[in-house]
Amino acid sequence: MRRVVISLGGSILVKGDNDADHIRELIDGLTSLSDEMRFIIVTGGGRLARDHISLGRSTGADEATLDSLGIQATRMNAWLVLGAFKGKDVYPRPFTSIEEAIMGASSHKFTIGGGTHPGHTTDAVSALIAEMWRADLFINLTAVDGAYTDDPDNNRSAKRIPKMTSKELVDLVSNTTRGAGSHSVMDPLAAMVIHRAGIESRILEGRDVPNLLRCMRGEDMHGTIVIPGE
Ligand code: UTP
Repeated sequence: MRRVVISLGGSILVKGDNDADHIRELIDGLTSLSDEMRFIIVTGGGRLARDHISLGRSTGADEATLDSLGIQATRMNAWLVLGAFKGKDVYPRPFTSIEEAIMGASSHKFTIGGGTHPGHTTDAVSALIAEMWRADLFINLTAVDGAYTDDPDNNRSAKRIPKMTSKELVDLVSNTTRGAGSHSVMDPLAAMVIHRAGIESRILEGRDVPNLLRCMRGEDMHGTIVIPGE
């Protein structure tokens, strides 16, 4: 049974654009592979997290408190996805620690949760789970269709990188700013963990479910392939 960890970005989960259809399509797609694979899904907080963090910051909250706010948003999204898995072989509540995620996955095909501790993002939670669970594959589902040479929203000449090593990914994201709600294609801690653990990884646009399924079947896909190594 292959072990797959999915970091499901909150911004693609709740977008205000056919969200329910997308969640159903995603769950049906993953279920179609569940005879061969077991999944741990980590939901991000998306706009809910960002809006609350920004409001909290403007009323004077410290960064650790803002992180806790963000974690609650990721758990709300975990409940949203969990609810849509009704009737399937799913661990019955969002995990709140890496250990609980792994325990859930020992007896269920699907285990879902959000953030765990202040100071990082759900990408890092996903990567730490992938390391401890000895996952075969880590997939980062995000709003962009892969890792780019620069931020594609701010630099129109930025190019998508179809294939890179985990060390190249660490170098690419190492300049990301820290602090509650900060954002890049992957949290630097997550990149560091997948590099040290030697985990095969993919960065994909999260709404393209057929592409995600091709990726998990080992077929041609659109996105970034991250190969462990220097
Ligand atoms: P996300 O994982 O949603 O951040 O966590 P993100 O990279 O913005 O992801 P998208 O937009 O959903 O793809 C939101 C915030 O929650 C706090 C951090 O402040 C993070 O920026 N958080 C989350 C933690 O402190 N610890 C966690 O384990 C998870």
